[in-house]
Amino acid sequence: MNITVTHELAKRLMEAGGEALSGQYLADEFGISRTAVWKHIKELEEKGYTIESIKKRGYILKEIPDTLEPIAIQPLLKTAKIGQVMEYIDSCPSTQILAHKFAQEGAPDGTVVLTETQTAGRGRLARKWDSAPQKGIWMSVILRPDVVPQKAPQFTLVAAVAVVRAIEEVTGLKPEIKWPNDILLNGRKCTGILTELQSDADGIQALIIGIGMNANQELEDFSPEVRDIATSLKMMDGKTVDRQELVRSLLFYLEQYTNLYIEQGFKMLKIMWESYSSTIGRPVRARMAKETLEGIAEGITDEGVLQLRTNDGKLHGIYSADIEM
Ligand code: BTN
Repeated sequence: MNITVTHELAKRLMEAGGEALSGQYLADEFGISRTAVWKHIKELEEKGYTIESIKKRGYILKEIPDTLEPIAIQPLLKTAKIGQVMEYIDSCPSTQILAHKFAQEGAPDGTVVLTETQTAGRGRLARKWDSAPQKGIWMSVILRPDVVPQKAPQFTLVAAVAVVRAIEEVTGLKPEIKWPNDILLNGRKCTGILTELQSDADGIQALIIGIGMNANQELEDFSPEVRDIATSLKMMDGKTVDRQELVRSLLFYLEQYTNLYIEQGFKMLKIMWESYSSTIGRPVRARMAKETLEGIAEGITDEGVLQLRTNDGKLHGIYSADIEM
């Protein structure tokens, strides 16, 4: 079975938006027989696609399975670069680990690694990341921007804005960003971002942006340690989220905003980031490896460094910390 044709067929059916496509039309388009078209239709049905076949009219796509396979995402993806190459694996220890490996092997700029579940998902500060099967979006994006390594942390902030925009667009919910990388709904974490770097004397070889989005979990899908602090999009309004739409929206905004950042710097994105931030203007406690500081979070610098004014009037630049509010 020619997988490219099956893939292309799924794309045409999705693009048809519920209209019938005749077997003859599809046969002509792909230069194959109508029987071969039918075999590809069967192949899609075996993958869980529901396709109605109407005499004299053709095939209508009724339902797509809830999977993050490229075949279900790429046809309607509106990006030029990010996600044009997608690596999908049913289950893996961590998409970060895979993405690092693919990047070292030369994966192109914009490669996306997706999975349904991770057995060793990791968060910042080597914390464990819950990745319940088929409930969320566990994804790593390989970028190869031509910027100095010092600019890498800003990509976390840029990705955070992209995540917020995507959640808003797909669900109508209004998330907030807690510096630097937590996306919150009603004060609970629904998404985390982990940006890692491959660099050498020539500069950045690859940025690996890991995004973990809690989409359709119920409370009991989370491990007891995080039940008090985590949430999912579904837990907010009871609606099951279309994970495929969410991935497409996320990749679209990630491409828009990383391009904007690379072309025009952080200025515009800083304004957007601050407008979504739950941290700025609030009293916070910043826990760092060697000390804890308390004060008012006044803003972030153009480099994405948190500006914390302590009660003695001193302004501190915070590069990495756990923030409590
Ligand atoms: C954090 O908030 O600490 C960051 C969490 C990042 C989790 C994602 S899920 C996809 C990718 N693979 C991982 O192992 N981690 C990131």
